[in-house]
Amino acid sequence: MPAATDIDAAVAALKAGELVILPTETVYGLAADAADPVAVARIFEAKGRPRFNPLIAHVADLAQAEGIALFDDRARALAERFWPGPLTLVLPIRDRDVVSDLARAGLDTVAVRAPGHPLAHDVIAAFGRPVVAPSANRSGRPSPTTFADAVDETGAFAAAALDGGPCDVGLESTVVALIDRPRLLRPGSVTRAQIEAVVGPLAEAESDAKRSPGRLALHYAPDAPVRLNVDAPRDGEAYLAFGAPGPFSLSETGDLREAAANLFRRLREADRIRPIAIAVAPIPADGLGEAINDRLRRAAGFVG
Ligand code: TXA
Ligand code: MG
Repeated sequence: MPAATDIDAAVAALKAGELVILPTETVYGLAADAADPVAVARIFEAKGRPRFNPLIAHVADLAQAEGIALFDDRARALAERFWPGPLTLVLPIRDRDVVSDLARAGLDTVAVRAPGHPLAHDVIAAFGRPVVAPSANRSGRPSPTTFADAVDETGAFAAAALDGGPCDVGLESTVVALIDRPRLLRPGSVTRAQIEAVVGPLAEAESDAKRSPGRLALHYAPDAPVRLNVDAPRDGEAYLAFGAPGPFSLSETGDLREAAANLFRRLREADRIRPIAIAVAPIPADGLGEAINDRLRRAAGFVG
């Protein structure tokens, strides 16, 4: 397990085609040089992904993003409003070399975001080119939201690992495609309402497994089965309460931001006591609750 390294070591590792555990404000990522297909292939190997899903290109700022993707007025308006931050835009590709074919899974589009975490920003800025970074979990497992969990999942494959503390947001970025109509591919902490306030009504992802291929059922899944919308847990179940205290409470006060930040960590903690099941309290559907419920349905094995 690599000990925490500094920014210089992380940049050197990226330049050498190695992988880096990279903190972001959403979840920890496993980063590589987007232009280097061998390095990108290492990511898929480390995650044990059954097939090649397109990865998000992480950039330092909008100027760097405009070098790799084609921005229209709507895309620019969203980037100006929410970057740096937990929003990913899927746009037509502009430079096929800087984000390699393998990183895009051969698509004519590219997913791009400027992360808000200062360590992520500083690494990308010092590296000078985009890095691709999926969540640092092994395929199908909950995304890591602490340094220890990230190292535990994929640290063995990383040449450098940056400790950025616990992730503020705790859920992966919101993904919006701006290819035809604006379309919500993955709900996140930038809410549907916040995006619609900038670009108007969002179309649904018709078949999200097809359009955003990483979003399979049984994503984010702990080992124990997960039961949703539970008001009273059964004996032997670990209970993720909401608006009430408890050892695995998502938020004692019923705060959605706190629940999002705690979700993946609590799923891991609950799993460690080897319960017969993990029962989860009902979570309101609106605002940030849309993203929390999306991840919970996947943890429970339902197609979203
Ligand atoms: O918050 C996040 O976005 C984190 C941190 C590390 O930045 N990263 C992350 O990456 O969640 P990953 O690989 O776990 O999820 C990327 C998602 C997948 O669902 C993938 O299918 C989708 O974005 N995606 C990537 N490129 C795409 C494209 N060109 N078209 C449609 N969906 C795309
Ligand atoms: Mg992921």
